[in-house]
Amino acid sequence: MKPKVFVSRLIDRDALDMIAEVAEIEVWGDELPPSYEVLLEKVKDVDGLLSLLSDRVDTTLMDAAPKLKVISNLAVGYDNIDITEATKRGIQVGNTPGVLTETTADIAFALLMAVARRVVEADRHVRKGQWKTWGPMILLGQDIHHATLGIIGLGRIGIEIAKRARGFNMNVLYHDVVRNEEAERQLGVKYISELNELLSTADFISVHVPLLPGTHHLIGVSEFALMKPTAVFINTSRGPMVDQKALYEALRSGKIFAAGIDVTEVEPISTDDPLLTLENMVITPHIASASVHTRRNMAMMAAENLLAGLRGEVLPNCVNPEVTQ
Ligand code: GLV
Repeated sequence: MKPKVFVSRLIDRDALDMIAEVAEIEVWGDELPPSYEVLLEKVKDVDGLLSLLSDRVDTTLMDAAPKLKVISNLAVGYDNIDITEATKRGIQVGNTPGVLTETTADIAFALLMAVARRVVEADRHVRKGQWKTWGPMILLGQDIHHATLGIIGLGRIGIEIAKRARGFNMNVLYHDVVRNEEAERQLGVKYISELNELLSTADFISVHVPLLPGTHHLIGVSEFALMKPTAVFINTSRGPMVDQKALYEALRSGKIFAAGIDVTEVEPISTDDPLLTLENMVITPHIASASVHTRRNMAMMAAENLLAGLRGEVLPNCVNPEVTQ
């Protein structure tokens, strides 16, 4: 008998075909994710689940899926899954690292540039009929070249940001729990052991750390207070890394110059959230990995993880390898 699989959204056709060759597959075809209640129902006799970061995979869900062997998350982040619980139950969890690194770094840099040079605001200015003349004092932004970039978290994505920054002659600082001397030699980045020092020195601050209990609200009122009034803040990691009320206040009061964010504390952000009233903020709807090429690669990788788990093999990209040791 073929194993059963639930795929919680429409993904690349080839990835789905690959799964369908060996498994009885049900795909959730709606644009919006299945509700938690529907997901509970859908997983009740599955061997494998291909989940998205919008699916909460917790103890109750695992209780509802007694046959579950593998959870393959279509994302590099997996804060939507209770990994400790999965490990306890011998369920392997897979993710999709690597393939989205540069695509994500590209959008972090795109936000950085858009915000610093007020690109989106300028576009609105033109469309609203406000372009009256070449104005020596209108829409002045911050220079990117030769400015100081502070990267929080020099992992795969952080390193790619540093490479892009070098092309703009930026001075790059980084803060991380571990120092990476090789990256310092290769990329000319400078380690700053105290986060507060990086926050007060950098012109641009970009966050690239995973969401963990210890990184929740890593950036809040006191961190924004340390930043320069000309600072540009970028978040393409996870919304809850930042205290969103503090971000709003920092932007509204001119405590910092501007922000570019791809993630929010609750997604989607409510359309009446005060953040959306601010001109000095550019927001995208969690699309950092959304290029045609990368989303296909992620789907293939997630399918490979899923199939390996169904065969009882170690997943090519497993976040809890202790399950099989
Ligand atoms: C997207 O946010 C991911 O974690 O892949």
